[in-house]
Amino acid sequence: MNTVDTLPQLRAAIAGARSEGKRIALVPTMGNLHAGHIALINQAVERADFVVASIFVNPLQFGPNEDLDSYPRTLAADQSKLLEAGCNLLFTPDAQVMYPQGMAQHTIVSVPGVSTGLCGGSRPGHFDGVSTVVCKLLNMVQPDIALFGEKDYQQLAVIRKMVADLNMPVQVFGVPIVRDHDGLALSSRNGYLNPQQRANAPALQQSMQAVKAQIINGNRDYAALFEQLDRDLQTAGFRLDYVELRDALSLQPADVQSTQLVLLAAAYLGSTRLIDNLIFDL
Ligand code: PAJ
Repeated sequence: MNTVDTLPQLRAAIAGARSEGKRIALVPTMGNLHAGHIALINQAVERADFVVASIFVNPLQFGPNEDLDSYPRTLAADQSKLLEAGCNLLFTPDAQVMYPQGMAQHTIVSVPGVSTGLCGGSRPGHFDGVSTVVCKLLNMVQPDIALFGEKDYQQLAVIRKMVADLNMPVQVFGVPIVRDHDGLALSSRNGYLNPQQRANAPALQQSMQAVKAQIINGNRDYAALFEQLDRDLQTAGFRLDYVELRDALSLQPADVQSTQLVLLAAAYLGSTRLIDNLIFDL
C-alpha cells in the first residue's frame, strides 16, 4: 500500500489503476481507524479492484469550540490496519493541499434540507464542511464507488443528496454501524471517555433500544418516550443533545406513511459528544 500526500501523486496512482481497467473505491476518513472504518474498507475490497482511503482531519467541519486540535492522529497504526485490510492507496493531504488559498474564501458545497436539524442544528456549518470536503475528495479521486458508515446517518443522507443533486458519477454505499461488545457504537471520540464514562456509555444505545421496543409495540406517545430516555441518560451521567424519530429514507420527521424509521440521538458524557441511531421497520 502506497501513501501519498500530494494531488499529482494521487492522480498518477489513480491513472495507473484506471489504465489497468480497475474499478476504484474511495473510503474517506479522519483517521484513528477502528473496526467501523475497517468495515468500510472490507466492503470496498469486495466491491472494487482498487481501494483508496483518505485520512484528513478536515478543519472546515469543526466548530470553533470543537475538538480539531485534540482529535487523535495515529498515522502509523492506521497504515498497518489499512494494509492488513487490503487497501491499495492511502491519501493523506494536509490543509495546504486541500485548501491552498485558505478556507475563508473557499467555495462551499451546501446541501439544503437534510443538513439542517439533528447534528446540523447542534453543529452550525458542520455539514457544509463535510459536503465540501467530500465533494473535493470525490473530484480528486473520481472513484466508481464511495463508502460511508450509517453511524453518521445524517452525514450519509447529506452525501447521497449532494451526489444526486450534482449528478456526480459515483455510487454511494452505506455500511451498517459496527459496535463494541457492549453495544457502544465504535467512534474515535470514545477514546476521550474516562473508565467510568466508558462503562456508562452503552446506556445511550440501551435507552434507544428501549424506545424502539415501545414504538414497535404500538406506543406513539413520543414525548413521554423521549422524556424517559432523557431520564435514563441522566442517570448514566449523560446530557441529552437531541433525540428524534425520522423517516429513514427522507430523513424528514416520521409520519403515518413512514414504514422505515430511524431513531437518532446525540448526548454528551462530560465534554464528549456521542451519536447513535437505530433503523427499524414498522
Ligand atoms: P470519520 O469520523 O473518520 O468516519 C469515516 C467513516 O467511517 C464515515 O463514513 C463514518 O460514518 C464511518 N464510521 C465511523 N464509525 C463507524 C462505525 N462504528 N460503524 C460504521 N461506520 C463507521 O465521518 C468522517 O470521518 C468525516 O466526516 C468525513 C466523511 C471523512 C469527511 O471529513
